[in-house]
Amino acid sequence: MTDRDKPSPATDCVHAGETHLPAGMGINTPVVTSTAFDYREGGVRYPRYANALNHEVVAGKIAALEGAEAARVTASGMGAISAVFLSLMKPGDHAVILDGLYGGTTDLIEGLLEPMGLRFSTWDGDPASLAGLFEDDTRLLMVESPTNPLLSIVDLAATAAVTREHGVVSFIDNTFATPILQRPIEHGFDLVMHSATKYLGGHSDLLCGALAGTRELIEAIHPDIVRLGATLNGQDLALLERSIKTLAIRVERASDNAGLLAQRLEDHAGVECVFHPGLAGHPGHSVAASQMSGFGAMLSFRLDDSVDPAGFLESLRLIRPAVSLGGVETTISQPSKTSHAKIGDEKRAALGIDDRLMRLSVGIEGVDDLWDDLDRALGGSSL
Ligand SMILES: Cc1ncc(COP(=O)(O)O)c(C=O)c1O
Repeated sequence: MTDRDKPSPATDCVHAGETHLPAGMGINTPVVTSTAFDYREGGVRYPRYANALNHEVVAGKIAALEGAEAARVTASGMGAISAVFLSLMKPGDHAVILDGLYGGTTDLIEGLLEPMGLRFSTWDGDPASLAGLFEDDTRLLMVESPTNPLLSIVDLAATAAVTREHGVVSFIDNTFATPILQRPIEHGFDLVMHSATKYLGGHSDLLCGALAGTRELIEAIHPDIVRLGATLNGQDLALLERSIKTLAIRVERASDNAGLLAQRLEDHAGVECVFHPGLAGHPGHSVAASQMSGFGAMLSFRLDDSVDPAGFLESLRLIRPAVSLGGVETTISQPSKTSHAKIGDEKRAALGIDDRLMRLSVGIEGVDDLWDDLDRALGGSSL
């Protein structure tokens, strides 16, 4: 199939999954709020079973965007991750996880899955060392790329090749990249998840998740999504559909803004270093360039010793300190006090996360307004 045989991601954002409605219903998917359906018409329907109209439309859109055979929409990103581990592993089974996954994923593993007898090893992200971590009972490999908060990059094709050779399911949290910039299934991954609370929702007002992959895997996981009660409700699905229609333009604009801000921050006397895969000096730059169509809207930077972190945050006027990410508005967080507050001091230091590290979720505002805000808060010493 040539690229012209399938629609561009921007077109899929708008049209994939849509249903053609009877005359008089207009062009938008109606919001089906019912939780009760007549079982004599078309079988047993119930929203938690993920077979109501809004679910089918949004799952179709997400599957098309990820180039997946099937998808499900969940009540949160953690709902999707929980269902994957609980479905594909049983007590005694082993999984390999990238070191430094999202804190909620680590908390799920340490607080629930390990006490249930599931076993985990951590991986440093080097494809050459991956096969050595696999055991007879290894079922799953889970990664993120780019990672939070230092935007490290995993070579997706090399990683998927090793997992496939060993019969291990490859699973990626694609929240930071979005399917607009990175489609891991094209690089050989089996399963992709999103905290759709972030870019897919995009307006900091929805809590939801998504899972996409082969039909076989999605059908294997589906019963546990239903058992866990992790399906998203109809009203939020309708809002998510509306949001995804603008995903491509939001992500492209935010990613361009982030690329410009990363370069300007790198040249600023108030900044010690910047982490963004679009920068030529980033260790993952060339791999990111080969597997992403843009470098993403997340970046981190470490303040110079001369800048007081609390004073810097206090001085920002447009950019709001906030824990979530992926909204149309630019937000900033201090990982040592937010996403990585709970991990021990030693681990935080080993990961290079200190009070001077700032994580920026760049939005779609005018980039010069964002720069003016950052530059002023940094003491106006841009070169
Ligand atoms: C990278 C990443 N993955 C997963 C999650 C969990 O998603 P949710 O909060 O939608 O459950 C988050 C939430 O912050 C995240 O940032």
